[in-house]
Order: sequence, then C-alpha cells, then structure tokens
Amino acid sequence: MSKISLSKCFVNTEVEEAALRAIRSGQYILGKESQEFEKELAAHTGTTQCVLGSSWTMIVYLLHQLQGIGPGDEIIVPSHTAFPTMEPLIHLGARPVFVDIDDTYCMDLDQVEAAITPRTVGIIPVYIYGHPVDVDRLLGMVAKHRLWVIEDCAQAQGAKYKGRTVGSMGHFGAFSFFPSKNLTVLGDGGCITTNHTQMADRLRMLRNHGRQGKYDHEFPGYNVRFNEINAAIGRVMLKHLDGFNENRRKIAAHYNQRLSVLVTTPPERPWAKHVYHMYVVRANNRDALQKHLKENGVETGIHYPVPNHLQPAILNQFKKVSLPKTEEVVKDILSLPIHGEMSIAAADQVCDAIAASYKK
Ligand SMILES: Cc1ncc(COP(=O)(O)O)c(C=O)c1O
Repeated sequence: MSKISLSKCFVNTEVEEAALRAIRSGQYILGKESQEFEKELAAHTGTTQCVLGSSWTMIVYLLHQLQGIGPGDEIIVPSHTAFPTMEPLIHLGARPVFVDIDDTYCMDLDQVEAAITPRTVGIIPVYIYGHPVDVDRLLGMVAKHRLWVIEDCAQAQGAKYKGRTVGSMGHFGAFSFFPSKNLTVLGDGGCITTNHTQMADRLRMLRNHGRQGKYDHEFPGYNVRFNEINAAIGRVMLKHLDGFNENRRKIAAHYNQRLSVLVTTPPERPWAKHVYHMYVVRANNRDALQKHLKENGVETGIHYPVPNHLQPAILNQFKKVSLPKTEEVVKDILSLPIHGEMSIAAADQVCDAIAASYKK
C-alpha cells in the first residue's frame, strides 16, 4: 500500500533547469526572471500590474501601509481562514471585524453587509480552499459604501468567477506561492495584482527601500524583494497551473461521486470555477476517521482547527465575538489529499479507506 500525501509539489527537469538558469545568470534578486514573472502573472490574472514580494503577508502589509490603514479603521474579514489574512492590518492598528461563513466556507455576504459601519474602510474576501465569493454582489456593496476590496487569492490561483480570473475583480488581488499552494515557487513568495498603476509603482519602491534607482531613496521602505531562482521556477509552474487545476477538478469530481453518500462533499456555486486547493469534507466522527486514514497511509489535515476569532492573539486585543457556523464546522471538517498530479487510482485508495472506516 503506497502512502498518499495531503499535497505534493511538482518538480521536473524543466523546473530544475530553470533554477540552474537563474543560478548561472549571476543575478539573484529582482532581475529579468522576476520582471518576466510579474508580466506573466498579470497576464494570467487579467490585470495590468503584478508586484512580487517575499510572501503574501509582507506584500499585503506594504499594500495596507500605502492604503493608509491605521487605528480606528475596521476591515471585514472571515474568521475561517489562515491567520495571516488579518495579521498585516492588526500590525497597522486596524481592527478585524469577523463575519461568519456560508456553506461554501467563504464569508457570508449577508453578514458582510450587516457588519459595515462608518469606520469600515475595506473588505478582504478569502477564497478559501479555492472557491470564490459572489463577487458582483460584493462589489455592489463596496461601491455603495466606497470601500476597497483585496481578494485573498492565496488558496485560489486560477479560480474563476463568471469566467473572470480571481485577483482581477477587486481593487487588489493577493497571492501566496508557499509550497502547498496551487502555484508555488518552491519557497516563500507572494504578489499583488491590480490595475492601479500608481499604487503598483509605489509598492515596487516600498518593497525595495523606497527607491527606483540604486541610490535615490524617495521614502523609507523595506526589503520585501523577490529572488530570481524562485521567479525562474514560478515561471515554469505557471505554465502548468491551468492543467494542474483541471486535474484537481477531476479528482474532486471523482471524490464527489464516490464520497457523497458517506460525508458532506464541498459545494461549487454555478458561477464559480473552484480550483480545490483543498478538498474539504464534513465527516461524522471526524477524529476517528482521520486516525483510521492515517493508519492506512492516507495523510489528511484540518484547515483550520481553531477559528481565528478564538485565537489568543485576537482575544488578547479584541472583544470576543461568536460565529456559530465557523465554530461548528471546525469540529467536523477534514481535508483530503489532492494535488495537480494526483491520479484517480490514488483518489480511489482514499475513498476505499473512508468507506472501510465507516463500515467498521
Ligand atoms: C488564505 C491565506 N491567506 C494568506 C496566506 C499567507 O500567505 P504567506 O504564507 O505567503 O504569507 C495564506 C497562506 O498560508 C493563506 O492560505
């Protein structure tokens, strides 16, 4: 019986050769590979601009700084997300206003509308597990209240909403290239996509010590730059992204077909093209199922076991809120193995193990 991992990074000779090409180029930071990667990412997303940075967390921190976010500002976020979604805004003194989720696991837009106050400055919808929100409805609210939107696409690279690629619809899109993501650079990295040329130009300067040339610093900045080896690798990965996403969708369809009688399978709205960064089910006796799968060589995960509004880092600073749906799903969600190269045979092995667990 072969072991089945939760996710897997793609590496082939093309990827290795790209890394070697960057090594041999003699230029290691923000060079030609990074410039080309930015252009290719913008083209793939459907924006005019893309700005690479050392991670989602750091490039969003710089973006928030350029947006002028500070104390007194409220930003609406789901609690059901990776903790980094709200870290940058907290560092700048703003307050995360948590909203509950709907059955897609994304933020419930009814609750978003109800959470808007005169202090609200923006909304960060998270396309959790690879499924977008109803963007048209969200943008309607945003226009009415003059807010900004940063699409958190960290888990949704290549996903679509009514045929439009995520990261092209809000004021900004934010992506992560962490190794488990649908598009990785085999290391840390992230980017912002946008059509706001001026903001992109400022962001490029802010990530590189506030300068354009070598010794002309217009304002104090940071080092949130991008490495050439990662950019060269990312360019190869990007060529494979759509194909790998199609494979993820094929595996998800197979899981849906085999598992819907045993567990609650993930929904996909008619307007969404889900890219299944995670394939998450809700399962009775989740912990026993997870243990059984582990004993049978199937790695699983829980994304995420403790909701962010109940994390000590939040409770230490902000008033406790109650989000019943979020608090309920964390008790029975389970992420099953899925990745761009996964075979149907491997998916069948996972399904067989789940079926055997419920027959016990
Ligand atoms: C939804 C979401 N937002 C933000 C991040 C942060 O990304 P990074 O690790 O590149 O800072 C992640 C990754 O963990 C994520 O899954």
